[in-house]
Amino acid sequence: MNSIVEAVNTAVAAARKKFSACTCANDVEAVRIEYLGRNGLFPELSKGMSQLAPEERKDAGRAFNEGRSAIQNMLQEKLSELNAGSGAEEAIDISLPGRRPRLGHRHPISQLTDECVAIFRRMGFIVADGPEIEDVYHNFDALNTPADHPSRDLQDTFYLPDGRILRSQTSPVQIRVMETHTPPVRIVAPGRVFRRDTPDATHGMNFHQIEGLYVDRGVSLADLKSVLQCFAREMYGDDVKVRLRPHFFPFTEPSVEYDFTCVVCGGKGCPVCKNSGYIEIAGAGMVDPAVFEAVGYDPTVWTGYAFGLGIERLAMLRYRIPDLRLLYDNDVRFLEQF
Ligand code: DAH
Repeated sequence: MNSIVEAVNTAVAAARKKFSACTCANDVEAVRIEYLGRNGLFPELSKGMSQLAPEERKDAGRAFNEGRSAIQNMLQEKLSELNAGSGAEEAIDISLPGRRPRLGHRHPISQLTDECVAIFRRMGFIVADGPEIEDVYHNFDALNTPADHPSRDLQDTFYLPDGRILRSQTSPVQIRVMETHTPPVRIVAPGRVFRRDTPDATHGMNFHQIEGLYVDRGVSLADLKSVLQCFAREMYGDDVKVRLRPHFFPFTEPSVEYDFTCVVCGGKGCPVCKNSGYIEIAGAGMVDPAVFEAVGYDPTVWTGYAFGLGIERLAMLRYRIPDLRLLYDNDVRFLEQF
């Protein structure tokens, strides 16, 4: 047996062992390079062929060719074995670039909440928080809401078996803050609220509000209006104006609803503002003395204003979203736009 035949036999045996130890296509490729690659064993052996005596060359040539195809067969077998394990149809192309994982981002409602809070913080408000599972006292009683007020109805508010409720507004945070802090207070409280509404384009069973409360000596409705005006400008631009309309809320006196000039038509009138030039934003007012009494503040000393904001409403106006439900379908094609 000449030296090439021997070398081929050893190589085939060694390659068989190495292939059987391979666990992935990369391993197989490394073995291929070692034996069949440009600088591998087989090209090296073929160079030695010319040094052989002519009678040896025939055997060596046959052994060389058989050895090489044996290794090629082992390689193919190993690759199909690996692919069968991974369920792939074809050999894995290890030169393909990887797929980038998709990165998510914050929900538009969270983004907008942060934006609103940042605006109020610049005006000196600090952030307060309260529980989503609330008691009737904080959500209604302390807010001067009469026992027969329709908003307490089972049809409107979610009651839990233990008598507590899912808060129907962020206003109870006003009570919790005043119960635990002495005046002056200046807070905003963003959060989720729940109502027993049938979902449609402008109503949902849960949505988000930001509550505002300012208590100090000598606070007036003009202060309230200027803060809302400032917020409107920061949010929608310099031209937006605020209008207050008389309204009723149990916890404020006087109470108002406030409107912004329509951010779509600039106040000229369009389908979004139903040609009125104004868009209703939310409610506000001067804190009712009964509320101060409930938390132990002296209403002859302290005055204050409170306001609410619907975040979904602000989002619909800012992004011209026609249907609130789009925000909660969690369709990434929609959410990706923000
Ligand atoms: N809590 C009211 C609601 O959900 C909104 C509201 C009105 C909040 C007047 C206030 C306010 O703070 O003063 O409809």
